[in-house]
Amino acid sequence: MQLADHAILITGASAGLGRALALELARRGARLALVARGEAALDAVVAEIRAAGGVAHGIAADVGDKDAVYAIAGTAAALVGDIDAVVHNASTLGPTPLRMLGDTACEDLERVLAVNLVGPFRLTKALVGPMLLRGRGLVVHVSSDAATEAYPAWGAYGASKAALDHLERIWAAELDGTGVRFLGVDPGEMDTAMHAAAIPDADRASLARPAEVARAVVAMMAADDLPSGARLAAGAFAVTS
Ligand SMILES: NC(=O)c1ccc[n+]([C@@H]2O[C@H](COP(=O)([O-])OP(=O)(O)OC[C@H]3O[C@@H](n4cnc5c(N)ncnc54)[C@H](OP(=O)(O)O)[C@@H]3O)[C@@H](O)[C@H]2O)c1
Repeated sequence: MQLADHAILITGASAGLGRALALELARRGARLALVARGEAALDAVVAEIRAAGGVAHGIAADVGDKDAVYAIAGTAAALVGDIDAVVHNASTLGPTPLRMLGDTACEDLERVLAVNLVGPFRLTKALVGPMLLRGRGLVVHVSSDAATEAYPAWGAYGASKAALDHLERIWAAELDGTGVRFLGVDPGEMDTAMHAAAIPDADRASLARPAEVARAVVAMMAADDLPSGARLAAGAFAVTS
């Protein structure tokens, strides 16, 4: 997909991979609607992009709040125009330290599913109508290796990401041939606040920088030949630009 002058919505855009994606997509000329809960960090990303000549607007909202999602979609379209692409990047681990399933409260599992699965589903539903009318659109789901590996203590998060992967494949199958495409990406281990919360004693030098991963994800978004429904590892994707 052409990225320059396209309207792109990124959730979880105030930190980590989402922030890096916002900076990279702004550099490529996209008009951005950026979502996160904390307004100060979001404002800082918006200011950084504008200072470099880019176009970005912040929307402080919780993707796990069902009453917020249609407002996010409507506000984003009002600010940057019909959304050409959405990156479902916001995510929660649930309570940390991570805990075994037997010690996981049902309410904590519900909250993880609300943010990581139902939020992206609801937001896609809110955005996909105009995409279908225009015959084009891109929906990117940020997944994890915890979706495919049964890591002890990663149960709520892993189950949410596995379900997100499958949701993406079904969206892709149902909307095949419409021009609306779906991609999943496993970013790999990155040096972010989420990683530090999950694995505080990790060797940070061994982790990818969010900016490197963002370049790979943006290259995937720009590649029109990737089949809808594909799930890619960012580390295995050659960055061509
Ligand atoms: N880091 C890794 O090693 C790793 C590995 C595999 C997959 N991933 C995936 O990569 C993505 C990015 O992770 P990251 O490590 O960059 O995370 P991060 O550094 O913790 O940043 C998370 C971002 O999401 C926002 N956010 C969190 N909950 C939200 C909610 N309910 N509604 C709206 N925004 C919310 C945060 O801002 P607020 O808190 O202000 O809302 C922040 O902007 C996630 O989908 C994660 O599951 C990460």
